[in-house]
Amino acid sequence: MISKNNRIILSSICLIILMTTFNCTTKESTNTGDGNDLINQKVDSLLALMTIEEKVGQMNLYNGFWEVTGPMPDGDNAKIKYEHLRKGWVGGMLSVRGYDNVMKMQQIAVEESRLGIPLIIGFDVIHGYKTLSPIPLAESASWDLEAIENSARVAATEASAAGINWTFAPMVDISRDPRWGRVMEGAGEDPYLGSKIAVARVKGFQGEDLSQPNTIAATAKHFAGYGFAEAGREYNTVDISVSKLHNVVLPPFKAAAEAGARSFMNSFNDLNGDPVSGSTYLQRDILKGEWNFDGFVVSDWASINEIIYWGRAKDKKEAAEIASIAGSDMDMEGHVYVYELANLVKDGIVDESIIDDAVSRILRVKFELGLFDDPYRYCNKENEAKVIGQQSHHDAVLDMAKKSVVLLKNDNNLLPLKKEGQKIALIGQLASDKNSPLGSWRIASDDNTAVSILEGMQAYDGNQLIYEKGVDVWVGNTAFTKEVKINSTDKSGMTEALNAARNADVVVMVLGEHGFQSGEARSRTEIDLPGLQQELLEAVYAVNKNIVLVLQNGRPLALEWAAEHIPTIVEGWHLGTQTGNAIAQVLYGDYNPSGKLPMTFPRNVGQVPIYYNHKNTGRATNREGNVFWSHYIDQKNTPLYPFGHGLSYTKFEYSDFKIEGSEFIIDSDIEVSVTVSNVGNFDGKEVVQLYIRDLVGSLVRPVKELKGFELVSLKKGESKTIKFILTSKELGYYNNSGEFVIESGEFEIFVGGSSDTKLKGGFTLK
Ligand code: NOJ
Repeated sequence: MISKNNRIILSSICLIILMTTFNCTTKESTNTGDGNDLINQKVDSLLALMTIEEKVGQMNLYNGFWEVTGPMPDGDNAKIKYEHLRKGWVGGMLSVRGYDNVMKMQQIAVEESRLGIPLIIGFDVIHGYKTLSPIPLAESASWDLEAIENSARVAATEASAAGINWTFAPMVDISRDPRWGRVMEGAGEDPYLGSKIAVARVKGFQGEDLSQPNTIAATAKHFAGYGFAEAGREYNTVDISVSKLHNVVLPPFKAAAEAGARSFMNSFNDLNGDPVSGSTYLQRDILKGEWNFDGFVVSDWASINEIIYWGRAKDKKEAAEIASIAGSDMDMEGHVYVYELANLVKDGIVDESIIDDAVSRILRVKFELGLFDDPYRYCNKENEAKVIGQQSHHDAVLDMAKKSVVLLKNDNNLLPLKKEGQKIALIGQLASDKNSPLGSWRIASDDNTAVSILEGMQAYDGNQLIYEKGVDVWVGNTAFTKEVKINSTDKSGMTEALNAARNADVVVMVLGEHGFQSGEARSRTEIDLPGLQQELLEAVYAVNKNIVLVLQNGRPLALEWAAEHIPTIVEGWHLGTQTGNAIAQVLYGDYNPSGKLPMTFPRNVGQVPIYYNHKNTGRATNREGNVFWSHYIDQKNTPLYPFGHGLSYTKFEYSDFKIEGSEFIIDSDIEVSVTVSNVGNFDGKEVVQLYIRDLVGSLVRPVKELKGFELVSLKKGESKTIKFILTSKELGYYNNSGEFVIESGEFEIFVGGSSDTKLKGGFTLK
């Protein structure tokens, strides 16, 4: 057997010889931009050496281990995987992590297969690896792009130290449906905010140089439309117009592609009748065509097989044919390509150029990651031990957690809490939980490693703190792969909780969802407080009205009763490892919250989908004074809390709103400015938001669309003038042919600290 070092040297020599011997131009089917660059030449040289089976092998991504299968593949499935690794029939592995495991797999691929092509090692690094940041929806509430980029950087640093070089993140699915559990993974409902956050995350994961051992390739997922699954039900069908696709769904994907995301993942849904793993329109026409994307597309877990269950392919052979031709380059744990594709080529059903294109894209990213220079570059045992969980990462995720908190309501200034002389009752099972705050999608983190809210509050010892859980929210064990069992009968802890509340100056109640009640396969038809929590809340309110309600949840909740009765509500999401410290620092005023909702909170689930950038309808108001207008007979149209909403311990005032002109020609830059003043008693931060409305269009335009924002720090008494520039990019939109158009006419501009701002001006575009 050739040794590791020999293999690397041999590979390099081979490539150099090949580069000088072969005609090193890009294959006509590759769509990788500049065909003359060095990596393309190397890719072409290597491709020329490969058999069809080895090429197809690069398109095969196997799962290494998952909670259900234990630490290594075992049984027959494992035997086959090892065999395929040795034959060079595996391009990458997912969920293999840690020095020992990654080394073992990589060594087989590099030292035992004929060509020694290194594996790409993928993992769901969704909000951190071991040291966890807030869930992505929570991070998005910070509107702090620098912090979000840094959070992805920390995640990449830890993951790469564990041998991982490719993450299945960022998830950039826009969604307007809080019933869908995966909203916790995304940036919320807005395409503009979602695009900015997508770029920040891609930059954070990939850094400046992908070949550095602490940067990892990013994946924009799930391409596309998954967030519009009908009725919010997981894996359900998606049917949307071309203009909605282009204006709402695609912008964050386009932004991620432009930011250089090296891979895209398709998804489980169909789009207008086409299962997207088999969608030529999305993958070839838009992504690799119009956007000139030169990375590769990985399927979602066995999503190519699911083309059969959708009823679009009759068997695996046809599914492989449809998916490969449509531009799905890599088959994730579907075992379809590895068994079908080579024969499909030999039978002349799939052209070899399709395979060459896919393999070129995959190899290209492997070269960019530096895996051909050193396949073990992400494997360093000392580094793994030193980097993962280091103090600077805890500091970073604490910072991110504080920035993610949204103060929804603070009547009577119950917050910040006084630091001394108070009797505080802390109530709720979630308050002492060290597991749930870690949130969903946290496969590499250890259970029960979050700082609980109880622990965070105990660090402030000037007050008397009494803790009572009230009721158990759930019973039994919780796990990523299992449904959370909710307690809806046992009230035995209520009395102690009420006694504690009765005698307290302030009651802090921590209520909401368990971390595993959101995420993949966690759709809900009721989005209120699970189990007996609402009953507990109302019972406590009956004995003490001074309640600070701290929410922990992975989606917007419908909390109409709480919003009406409870004076103070803090949206605390699932904030990751440092949850308790972050919440305590916010409650005690050592951090002034500045988060703004990235997703609308409905009054009840019947209003869903409810989102700020809706269309007006022909009957938006009660013009005639009768019943025939667009409304509910049992509920208001307005949300409980709108997109962009969030308060501070201080107060901000807006003045001097100016648009530099009243008429502009298309393509000119339009300057808008506004002065923001901190007129309250604390230093603080405000997210200044700018919205447009295109009043008359050749397609109906939304009543408001976010087109700019800036996070501003203002000392007590300080004012700052914020400038925005609007260009055609912000004023145009996609029509139903998928064309970007900019139309003349009247525009309204709104500026303020929430999407329901009334501060408005306007101009005409000629
Ligand atoms: C299925 C999920 O939809 C996807 O987001 C994830 O990356 C893969 N499983 C791999 O875990």
